[in-house]
Formats: sequence, structure tokens, C-alpha cells
Amino acid sequence: MSGICDGRVAIVTGAGRGIGREHSLMLAEQGAKVVVNDLGGSMDGTGDDAGPAQQVVDEITAMGGEAVANTDDISSWDGAERLINQAVEHFGRLDVLINNAGILRDRMLTNMTEAEWDAVIQVHLKGTFAPSRHAAAYWREQSKAGNEVDGRIINTSSPSGIYGNVGQTNYGAAKAGIASFTIIAAKELGRYGVTVNAIAPAALTRMTENLGMGQLPEEQKERMSPRYIAPIVVWLASADSKDVTGRVFDVSGRALSVSEGWHRGPTIELPSDDPAALADDVKRIVSEARPNANMSGYDEE
Ligand SMILES: NC(=O)c1ccc[n+]([C@@H]2O[C@H](COP(=O)([O-])OP(=O)(O)OC[C@H]3O[C@@H](n4cnc5c(N)ncnc54)[C@H](O)[C@@H]3O)[C@@H](O)[C@H]2O)c1
Repeated sequence: MSGICDGRVAIVTGAGRGIGREHSLMLAEQGAKVVVNDLGGSMDGTGDDAGPAQQVVDEITAMGGEAVANTDDISSWDGAERLINQAVEHFGRLDVLINNAGILRDRMLTNMTEAEWDAVIQVHLKGTFAPSRHAAAYWREQSKAGNEVDGRIINTSSPSGIYGNVGQTNYGAAKAGIASFTIIAAKELGRYGVTVNAIAPAALTRMTENLGMGQLPEEQKERMSPRYIAPIVVWLASADSKDVTGRVFDVSGRALSVSEGWHRGPTIELPSDDPAALADDVKRIVSEARPNANMSGYDEE
């Protein structure tokens, strides 16, 4: 196993299935040593099973690569810390953290329960923050000790977060939060030699097969294989990507784009503090502004 990630040590969260499994296999094919994390729960986050993480480790070992399994819950502070420590203790270092684990509890806002909101925010947002926080502390320590750091954090946002999808206020809010987290963490961690980027993927996995993607014609299913999400992530994990940071990539099967973030649009100077006096100007700047994106990322009609 040799390629663009030779000698690098990578953690992939939620790597027992779907997109994370593909990241892990391709990282190993490209020479990385991989910590394969997966709690092994059901799609709504309930339950656990050590099987999926170990199966991916077995696949990597069978290919001639190096990997180790971890079954910690990445949304727990201590679990995330154990995960980071395991990479350092087992492989002697950490270069790449890929925050990929996720769950779904879709519901329209009018019916969403507190538990559905809390679980999705916990797994996605805290499950991105907690491993990143422990990895960042490790890299800062390395940098202060005079060791060269070429670190990477690669987060997983979603078209639902950066464009907006009905029935997913919990998931979309968490995924938009992850996009913003990425931009801010990139600004903070550059000084330690760490880049932070994110992807907003769309691929055929258990998460999407019941959302219509399972019914696609065969050639479109092939285009939406989770295998095509891995190349940009593995390139971002490599040393070659060191000048790319704070970016969100839309990876829709084989279509790869850079997502362009919020910008200040048409602006007015307030004529007074009278809200009623704003009406004409606000209507005008809204009509002049670029529309929000539809779920494909293009201007909404
Ligand atoms: N499939 C898509 O089209 C799509 C679209 C947008 C975003 N995403 C995101 O991509 C990521 C991967 O999704 P997928 O489609 O491969 O789904 P998946 O369900 O196949 O894989 C997610 C994995 O995360 C694991 N996991 C969940 N909670 C965990 C926790 N607390 N600790 C450790 N592991 C945990 C699960 O056990 C599962 O194996 C998710 O963040 C998802 O939100 C996927």
C-alpha cells in the first residue's frame, strides 16, 4: 500500500459503513495507517455493535494495509479523547482527523421532539467539536515542542446544511454549524500547521437509500457510489493540500465543486430608526440580492 498519504496516520469517525468506510479503504490504499472508528449503531443513533469497525479493519489488513478499530462514541468528550490518544499510542502520531460519523432523525418542525433535536445536534456538532478539540490540543503541543506538524481536519457538512432541506431543521442546523466551525477552526489552527476543510457529500448509502436515491437507474446509482466521495477527502488528507484551508467542497457523487459561502449582499444606510420607513428599501435589496440556493446548490427559481 503506497501513494499520496504514505506514512500518514488518519482517524476516520463513523468509518464502519457508507462514506467513512470508503475514506478508510482509500486512505489505506494510498499508504495511510488508519484508526477506524464506529459505534456501530442504527441510522437513528440507537444501539451499538463492534462489528462494522472491525470488518473495515479486516478489509484493510487483507489488502496489506495497517488499521486498528475504535468503537468510542465520538460525541462524548472522553470517548473522543480516547480516540485521539489511541492513534498516537498505537501508531505513534496523528496527522489527519476525518469527522464523518452521523445519524438522521428527520421530522417536520411542527412535530420534532426534543430528543430528536438533541441527538442529532449531539452526534454531528459535538461529534465534530470533541475529536477536533482533542486533536487540536495534540497538534499545538507538537508544534510548541518544535516538531513539524502537517495536520488535517476534514469535516462532513451536507447540502441540507449549506443549502437547506425540508424535514431536517435539526440535521441541517448541525451541518450548517459544521460548515461555520470549519471556517473558524481553519483561521485558528493555521498557526500550528493544521488545515481544516469540509465536504458536503451526496452518495448512495443506507442514509439515502430510502430518500429516493435507492430508486435511481443503475448508471446514476454508479455515479452516486460513496467511493467517489473519498478521492477529494484523501487528497485533502495528503501533504499536497497544505495550501487549501477553510473550504467546503460539494461532492455529489462524481460532481465535485467548491461551495461559495455567505457574502454581504446589497446594502442600505438606515434613513432613521423607524421600522416602517424601511419597507421600500428592504423589498428592493431583497429583490436585488442573489436568491438562496436550491438543494442542488443553484439559485432557487
Ligand atoms: N449519504 C449521503 O448522501 C450524505 C449526504 C450528506 C451528508 N452525509 C453525511 O456523511 C456522513 C456519513 O454518512 P453515510 O451516508 O455514510 O451514513 P452511514 O449511516 O452509512 O454511516 C454513518 C456511520 O456513523 C456511525 N456513527 C453514528 N453515530 C456515531 C457515534 N456517535 N460515534 C461513532 N460512530 C457513529 C454509524 O454507526 C455509521 O456506521 C454523515 O455525517 C452524514 O450526515 C451523507
